[in-house]
Amino acid sequence: MCGIVGYIGPKKAYPILLKGLKRLEYRGYDSAGVALISDKQTLNVYKAKGKVSELEAFTTEKDSSGNIGIAHTRWATHGEPSSLNAHPHYSSSERLALIHNGIIENYAVLKEKLQAKGYIFKSNTDTEVLIQLIEYIQDKQDIDLLTATQLALGEVIGAYAIALLDKSNPHQIIAARKSSPLVVGIGQDEFFLASDATPIVEYTDKVVYLEDEEIAVIRRGKPLKIVNLHNVECPHEVQTVALNLGQLEKSGYPHFMLKEIFEQPNCINDCMRGRINVEHTNVVLSAVIDYKERLLSAKRFVIVACGTSWHAALIGKQLIESFCRIPVEVEYASEFRYRDPVIDSNDVVIAISQSGETADTLAAVELAKSRGAFIYGICNAIGSSIPRATHTGSYIHVGPEIGVASTKAFTGQVTVLTMLALTLARAKNTIDETSYFSIVHELNNIPDKMREVLKLNESIAELSKIFTYAHNFIYLGRGYAYPVALEGALKLKEISYIHAEGYPAAEMKHGPIALIDAEMPVVVIATRNDLYEKVLSNIQEIKARKGKVIALITKGDTIISKVADTCIELPETLECLDPLITTVPLQMLAYHVAVCKGMDVDQPRNLAKSVTVE
Ligand code: AGP
Repeated sequence: MCGIVGYIGPKKAYPILLKGLKRLEYRGYDSAGVALISDKQTLNVYKAKGKVSELEAFTTEKDSSGNIGIAHTRWATHGEPSSLNAHPHYSSSERLALIHNGIIENYAVLKEKLQAKGYIFKSNTDTEVLIQLIEYIQDKQDIDLLTATQLALGEVIGAYAIALLDKSNPHQIIAARKSSPLVVGIGQDEFFLASDATPIVEYTDKVVYLEDEEIAVIRRGKPLKIVNLHNVECPHEVQTVALNLGQLEKSGYPHFMLKEIFEQPNCINDCMRGRINVEHTNVVLSAVIDYKERLLSAKRFVIVACGTSWHAALIGKQLIESFCRIPVEVEYASEFRYRDPVIDSNDVVIAISQSGETADTLAAVELAKSRGAFIYGICNAIGSSIPRATHTGSYIHVGPEIGVASTKAFTGQVTVLTMLALTLARAKNTIDETSYFSIVHELNNIPDKMREVLKLNESIAELSKIFTYAHNFIYLGRGYAYPVALEGALKLKEISYIHAEGYPAAEMKHGPIALIDAEMPVVVIATRNDLYEKVLSNIQEIKARKGKVIALITKGDTIISKVADTCIELPETLECLDPLITTVPLQMLAYHVAVCKGMDVDQPRNLAKSVTVE
């Protein structure tokens, strides 16, 4: 949520910052801005409402000189998207400029205090309050900027990742974090700063991840210095990031989302690599082996997550309960963190998060940890906050996901949850050998079956044209297919802005059936499984009310194909693995409907990739 970039070194800062902002635009894109200390030692701030391209156009005629700068792409929290509210914000004297991710929760109190001292605010943001506070403390106490920043941050309640420029010290960037990620890249006589490593990797693979309440003093020609709020020097580890540039480009696809949908077969292979043996007879998640006793002695599992990751959690619940016979509860992290949950050292809490930075999920982890629970993370972004806050866990290894609508991360999460359930069940002896071998074997076939599904892309694109003008959609599924229905509906909502709801198919008659008429498209996941006949009856009920049924069926099914209006035929697999297959056409359907409607698929309105605020 919001992107931060910074540069100091021998090169011109502006092009590096602009490119970095474009790479980070998936984090927020309602306005953008840049601050540069120019060759003439002026502190220039340029801001524009809208995407980074608007900022670029606005800056064309301006002085963009300078070898030091900070830049920001915003997802509005306090104050509407506008150039006034865009970051960077100047201090009163315009000596300092600040960019900020996160929320200063006590900004109103601090603002009142400053207003009483005569400070005037130009924007509605909490960020402007912080920069004014820093300048006020510095001027009043006649201290250096680092000390003033430490004191100001000591007064702040909330979350922040900040970067600060001072025109009277043109060789230094001050950056700090609390509950919002910040990475320093270390190059040859140059430093980079960013809210994640994506804008840094084309210059250096050496990075330092700041920890909470750490402040980085980044100076040209001097080693990186990291201190805490009390000015105690903090040791830091230089890490090597393994991202490559190709992962951050569209590689010929019109959108990142389509590229990521098509990457799924390879991603699932990457996710399983080294975890399933070459004979395809055994699954091992090292974290489960390392913490076997702790995991097996748990009285129950609680899975916390948000959005798409929460849908993966619902599938995880069914997998773990059915293979391992351990009770599993699934909670929205945002609810869990505030409802004083009954949780203790007998519980294992699984936190699922693609970004590893979701504020609600991170807070749920901290809460569960403070009550003694054992925490297992399932994340994608290596080195992000959630994996660092957990006791152990498994990465999904699907590579960076840039499209705001999550696709490959979902199937990666479901794959890891499947392997987790299988490894635990084997260790607990709750799964019979025949089932275990057939599931492991079939899991290995999933990437090829996904490739088959991807061949339907053209026909799904055609089908999507019919539904471009629909105002509502219903998605139905039962058992493992119910979370898939929820996920299909979420994908459509997020990128096409068509209202869509997912329901367990049998629940339809308890209310939603009232919505069915000849205008209502109903997507039904009706592949062959134990509940097939029941789902068939649900389809009949929809058809009796003239609803338009789009059914996902198993290849060769001649029964539903006679009843449904349209069928999407999918390769057969085991019921417990069916979500890995049925999710893919729903991603494609959402994608093509959104494209037909001319929507900004990769950066849908009001959303951001990584929700680091509440
Ligand atoms: C998915 O398409 C979403 N954009 C959103 O629901 C997302 O899954 C949610 O915000 C959780 O994110 P996380 O997995 O990074 O924690």
